[in-house]
Amino acid sequence: MEENLRYVVGLDVGTENVRAVVATVGRDGSVSIVGYNEGPNSGMRKGVVANLTGPAESIDRMLGEVERMSGFEVNSAYVSINGAHVMSVKAEGMIAVGAEDHEITEDDLARVEGAAVTGRVPANRDILDVLPLSYTLDGQKGIKDPLGMTGARLELEASVISALAPNSVNLRKATEGAKVEAEKLVPSVVAAARAVLSEKQMENGVAVIDLGAATTSIAIFEEGDLQYVGVLPVGSNNITNDLAIVLEIDTEIAEDIKRRFAARNTAEGDDAGEILVRRGREEMAFSRAEISEIIEARLAEIFDGVRKELKFAKYDHKLPEGIVLVGGGARLKGVSEFAKDALEAAIKIGAPSGLGGVAEAIYKPEYSAAVGLVLMAAKDNGQIIRSHHEKKKKKSGGGLLKGFFKKF
Ligand SMILES: Nc1ncnc2c1ncn2[C@@H]1O[C@H](COP(=O)(O)OP(=O)(O)OP(=O)(O)O)[C@@H](O)[C@H]1O
Ligand SMILES: [Mg+2]
Repeated sequence: MEENLRYVVGLDVGTENVRAVVATVGRDGSVSIVGYNEGPNSGMRKGVVANLTGPAESIDRMLGEVERMSGFEVNSAYVSINGAHVMSVKAEGMIAVGAEDHEITEDDLARVEGAAVTGRVPANRDILDVLPLSYTLDGQKGIKDPLGMTGARLELEASVISALAPNSVNLRKATEGAKVEAEKLVPSVVAAARAVLSEKQMENGVAVIDLGAATTSIAIFEEGDLQYVGVLPVGSNNITNDLAIVLEIDTEIAEDIKRRFAARNTAEGDDAGEILVRRGREEMAFSRAEISEIIEARLAEIFDGVRKELKFAKYDHKLPEGIVLVGGGARLKGVSEFAKDALEAAIKIGAPSGLGGVAEAIYKPEYSAAVGLVLMAAKDNGQIIRSHHEKKKKKSGGGLLKGFFKKF
């Protein structure tokens, strides 16, 4: 107990799945995973909360096991936000800091941040984060940390990440419905990047692509900083739906076929020309060539969108460390070969690794965002573990949840 002073929670609210990870944080900052779980979500559309009760109930249900496993009550968390409304813009600001021999203070940094953001973000957007890229002090460019330096005129270039205010408000309401306060909202792909990238990759230039159920999001890093975030409203479930429509089968079978299939026909098991699906006594055979065509058509569309984003951000063919794929869609067989051809870059599949505690079960691409959130929370703060007795308080059940929503 002495060693672990704080605990932190990461909560990834995906369109199809909700996932949570709980970790204790040692005095030395070491992170130890003590609980995790995942469950199906409902009431979300393309990464955005479409009704409050669906996600609230899904989160509440999923957290039961996390609390049992970790022994901690989950009442606040770093929460992922997703959807095409999430975006980043570059912003610049300038302030005069006074006399020539003035030393830059925290206060000056906050002021120049304010100057950079003012007028850059429309009123219907919530600023999620302002990430300083570089400062200029009295004309000297490229300063990473001007605190304590001497100068009279301070300029800042920053990435400003924002989300449509109604969407972030509804996400907060949904987690509050599960008795979880969202301490901070982080774009899911940015959180995922934190779990799968090394500092060297972020320094040299790398992109992370989160292939989710209903969204595909892109985060680009260079010089150690986040340079760009973009989200496309198309994801891995679109492949499933295409298969269901074209092959005239229900989505469960389509999902099964998708999971068994390799986009480039490298699958093992099934006969060369066909994939066999048993349903009760019935056996259905589907042509590999046809499935391949359907999957690849949608993948081509998704990666074409990604390529356009990279180009828009001016990073196409400019990523020495290549591209890292995460999210459930990264499990699609053959997806990295496909991405390599489509994006003309080196591709890796990313997953969390190297964590302490009961972590191995979450070393999967789809857990990247939840793990990244927990790592960010661990770095920033955390709830103090006060006493051994306090940690086993049981949360109120679904009854209170219903009462909560009467308020809206
Ligand atoms: N083994 C697998 N093979 C192929 N696809 C898979 C596999 N496992 C999961 N998927 C796909 O991954 C997707 C779910 O990924 P994930 O859980 O990351 O999405 P999400 O976070 O809920 O959605 P989003 O990020 O778009 O809001 C589904 O489309 C699912 O079909
Ligand atoms: Mg997701």
